[in-house]
Amino acid sequence: MSHLEVRDLSFSYGKLLVLDGVSFDIEEGEIFGVAGPNGAGKTTLFNVITGFGHGRGSISFEGSSVARLSPNALCRRGLARTFQTPQPFSSMSVLDNVKVGAYFGGRDEGAAGDALEFVGLSGKKDDLVDGLNLYDKKMALIATALATKPRLLLLDEPVGGLSPQEVSQTIELFRRINRELGLTVVVIEHVMRVLTALANRLLIVSSGRKVCVGPPQEVCADQDIIDLYLGGGSCGA
Ligand SMILES: Nc1ncnc2c1ncn2[C@@H]1O[C@H](COP(=O)(O)OP(=O)(O)O)[C@@H](O)[C@H]1O
Ligand SMILES: [Mg+2]
Repeated sequence: MSHLEVRDLSFSYGKLLVLDGVSFDIEEGEIFGVAGPNGAGKTTLFNVITGFGHGRGSISFEGSSVARLSPNALCRRGLARTFQTPQPFSSMSVLDNVKVGAYFGGRDEGAAGDALEFVGLSGKKDDLVDGLNLYDKKMALIATALATKPRLLLLDEPVGGLSPQEVSQTIELFRRINRELGLTVVVIEHVMRVLTALANRLLIVSSGRKVCVGPPQEVCADQDIIDLYLGGGSCGA
């Protein structure tokens, strides 16, 4: 049994078919990367997996079907996600934001404190989120997801806007989330060096379809895939 099994998943916005028969498995404990052009359907895939939209096809998590559940029910089962466009409660403190995550996941305040400590933000717990720099805002949002105490964490383009050094620190944090907390991690990213550094397998999506799944070395060895789906740059850039 895989940790997450997606079978023949399709989703439309009105007449626009955005996911078209996507199937893949994610194994427990792996870091699984998702890449592909803008508009490929990556965020929509996360939305459907986490209950923010219901598609056709099947999704099973830890052996049970979860395709019709609400975001809150999915969160309480152990699935958490971050958003490509973050919307924190800016006028609330860091700790209060993270507590919202804990409560959404059915956890207590202790989970919020643990999560803040894990991302290194305990010293700013009473700051308003509004006053944080971009890196700390991102850490606060990752802590909010961790405070739900998930077993599988989905991250949607988590490093956008960060400096190269902050990107490296974030890569290290995701490794610790995977190794020390034992979470399965799924990460959408267009910064390919993040995926090649972290992921043991990559899913390439284009126009709502699966192009391929494989280890980064394999995917990045295929010049056609790089040219057609990864913007033509090098996989390490
Ligand atoms: N709320 C929405 N209503 C209508 N179309 C949408 C909506 N959100 C996304 N789309 C469309 O769905 C397609 C996939 O978008 P998205 O999943 O955000 O792609 P990606 O994350 O890979 O860039 C795009 O064509 C986008 O314009
Ligand atoms: Mg997206």
